[in-house]
Amino acid sequence: QALSILREFEEKCGTPISKLKQVADAMTVEMHAGLASEGGSKLKMIISYVDNLPTGDEKGLFYALDLGGTNFRVLRVHLGGKEHRVVKQEFEEVSIPPHLMTGSSDALFDFIASALAKFVATESDGLHFSPDRQRELGFTFSFPVRQTSISSGTLIKWTKGFSIDDTVGQDVVGELTKAMERVGLDMRVTALVNDTIGTLAGGRYHNPDVVAAVILGTGTNAAYVERAHAIPKWHGLLPKSGDMVINMEWGNFRSSHLPLTEYDEALDAESLNPGEQIFEKIISGMYLGEIVRRVLCKMAEEAAFFGDTVPAKLKIPFILRTPHMSAMHHDTSPDLKIVATKLKDILEISNSSLRMRKVIVELCDIVASRGARLSAAGIVGILKKTGRDAVKDGEKQKSVVSLDGGLYEHYTKFRTCMEDTLVEMLGDVSNNIVIEHSNDGSGIGAALLAASHSQYTEADE
Ligand code: BG6
Ligand code: GLC
Repeated sequence: QALSILREFEEKCGTPISKLKQVADAMTVEMHAGLASEGGSKLKMIISYVDNLPTGDEKGLFYALDLGGTNFRVLRVHLGGKEHRVVKQEFEEVSIPPHLMTGSSDALFDFIASALAKFVATESDGLHFSPDRQRELGFTFSFPVRQTSISSGTLIKWTKGFSIDDTVGQDVVGELTKAMERVGLDMRVTALVNDTIGTLAGGRYHNPDVVAAVILGTGTNAAYVERAHAIPKWHGLLPKSGDMVINMEWGNFRSSHLPLTEYDEALDAESLNPGEQIFEKIISGMYLGEIVRRVLCKMAEEAAFFGDTVPAKLKIPFILRTPHMSAMHHDTSPDLKIVATKLKDILEISNSSLRMRKVIVELCDIVASRGARLSAAGIVGILKKTGRDAVKDGEKQKSVVSLDGGLYEHYTKFRTCMEDTLVEMLGDVSNNIVIEHSNDGSGIGAALLAASHSQYTEADE
């Protein structure tokens, strides 16, 4: 009977190419709608105010702060211009104490500002700033922000595991600046960017063919280079470059074509943000393990999959993390030893049979494949919107997409499935599409954008 639960779930998760094409088309339609007017779509299609991507000429010492992934990072980047590129890069990684993710705005920003102040204090003598020059910071804030300029923007809502009411509607640069003042740190935020924008900027610095960036991590999202005149809701001046980078916030994408199941509906209803981020909830690292847990729970409750009683640990939400799921999914030992160990260590299930373990690996595969295939469909949606999904007049236009995030980096089967699906969907065109892991994460990108929006001109150097 557990098998029939599995089969029913598999069927509901199905992502044949025909469905993926519908999802890609729906993504393109929503992109148009989101660009047409504010609130025109579930896709916010946020104008980033980044109309120039790094060229390699950026010079000087800049800081970056990266908040919103698994870890919070502070970086110091020494940029040496075209010839020397990134001369030196140092960073520190700190995990955010969970209670700060749902506490008060001041507590969170104080924590960040003090970590930054400590890091600045480690600046070596050789790198000293002239006393009349303020240190400058690129702030990667990986949540939906309504940008009001390149260096300001208000938080629309929290996503992933964060939920702090008093930050919503506030200018996050203002919040950070106040906290920096409280800890006595004199620094100016010259660029506020989403992680997708930082990844795009960092990617472009290394490769001029980069046109889009996708994050597959705790959350998921994408950014791409749009022609400014194709953004009806943009009423500002037409940028010289003619381009504007758009933060899609695709995690909030929703379509009747998405293969959603009862488990996804229950997960959503019990989440911190019900009704929101539906695409993210079936794709990203924060949720995949939790979906597996929910299916296992049903198998335990209705088909005595683990014996007469339902293992108590299995009832704890989010106990099964995506890295655990990935470890089980990649288990190649004949008796699935790793699956057995994970079941024992995490769920305190010590008597698993080989048959049970095989079912679990298959379940992981169903959940990961659905997420991977849908993220490929999302990428195809962007390629369609930008006319890069077909070969025009035999022209070989290379399009590089920068990818980053823990799910992409560490979950090999997810990554391979996503890349294979792109080939499957694009056919020959896939020869012109390159998926590239962004080496430096979005931190360097933020530092580069901080440099190109510095308050000082090169003459001041
Ligand atoms: C990092 C980027 O590499 O990936 C971050 O620098 C981004 O900006 C992160 O938020 C996402 O990954 P994860 O898996 O930590 O959510
Ligand atoms: C969530 C955030 C988004 C971010 C993504 C990846 O979807 O809303 O801003 O880019 O996670 O970190």
